[in-house]
Amino acid sequence: MSHLSATAQPPGPVLAIESSCDETACAILSPTGVCLAQRVVSQDGHADFGGVVPEIAARAHLALLPGLVEATLADAGLSTTDLGFVAASTGPGLIGGLIVGTSFAKGLALALDIPFVAVNHVEAHALTARLPGIVPDGAPFPYLLLLVSGGHCQCIAVDGVGHYRKLGGTIDDAAGEAFDKVAKMLGLGWPGGPALEKLAQQGNPNAIPLPRPLLRRPGCDFSFSGLKTAIAQKLAPFGQDPLPHQFAADLAASFQQAVADVVADRINHALDMMPQARLLVAAGGVAANTTLRTRLEEVAQQRGLRFAAPPLKLCTDNAVMVGWAALETWRESAERGLPTPNDTTLRPRPRWPLEDMAQRFEPGLTQA
Ligand code: KG4
Ligand code: ZN
Repeated sequence: MSHLSATAQPPGPVLAIESSCDETACAILSPTGVCLAQRVVSQDGHADFGGVVPEIAARAHLALLPGLVEATLADAGLSTTDLGFVAASTGPGLIGGLIVGTSFAKGLALALDIPFVAVNHVEAHALTARLPGIVPDGAPFPYLLLLVSGGHCQCIAVDGVGHYRKLGGTIDDAAGEAFDKVAKMLGLGWPGGPALEKLAQQGNPNAIPLPRPLLRRPGCDFSFSGLKTAIAQKLAPFGQDPLPHQFAADLAASFQQAVADVVADRINHALDMMPQARLLVAAGGVAANTTLRTRLEEVAQQRGLRFAAPPLKLCTDNAVMVGWAALETWRESAERGLPTPNDTTLRPRPRWPLEDMAQRFEPGLTQA
């Protein structure tokens, strides 16, 4: 079971904050990991720029957070004095937003005299599958995680809380970045992933031949820039003219199919590198893509493995995963006989490799 054992439970609910990119989110989870309330605001000030503008994001987090936290507490029927501890994504991500969310959470924790737990955003994605209710037996370790989001594209061996091994990753764009860039070329809105998926539903995935970068190559790295260039070449003859709708839909469907083919191949290689895995987990915004999910499910089935992907709203950035990762950290610390985590001196980090997370549970080692 992934429910926290009684001895390892904090004295009250955790209030968690997510502000590493352009989602401002707050969630409150019970000490056993039941979500009591959660809110996500997807900032809308970035669409005109075709991507997240870090300074706009940081200012929006600052403007949104106080009201969002108050509203989430009200949804849960709680006041700040009911909280057991506070958590926030402290990295990796856009430094301005991380500073806003982390400072807010630390300030709240200090004012209430309760602990603050710093959460690695990628670790939060990695552990989401263990949230109560997602996988019947709580996604026991070890499992293989495919993390595909706007900023990340990695195959990670999840051996335990704090114990992660990167088996492979992208050598150029992240999967979500590729979706967003191709969507932009097709004149779709931003973020492009969901819009591209919608358009692809009206297209033929076999209509337009596209490359499959790194297919059947050793290892499980990814590359998407060649695919992006191929799309640009298919679009070049149209110049500034509007694209025929069916052509755009066929191109979207063919792109999605190429991504799914490549990801399925890479995951097969990653599973070869991690024969002890019994479960394949997909997380991150691109894991919301139905074509990709279906392909991953097929790969898992062919290899006699289980497949799990969190519900769509837990695949994209949210604070529930942040609260859950903090609870897992709390439990792991208790089980190892370590002091209650309290990270008020830990600074936000734009880069924070998962491999560094094991330090948290090694007595005597302090985090910078
Ligand atoms: O995990 P996420 O919310 O944010 C981070 O990057 O951390 O992922 C956002 C990314 C964007 O690139 C978005 O276009 C992509 O996930 N995305 C999708 C879909 N929904 C979101 N890509 C493909 N198909 C989707 N349905
Ligand atoms: Zn994310």
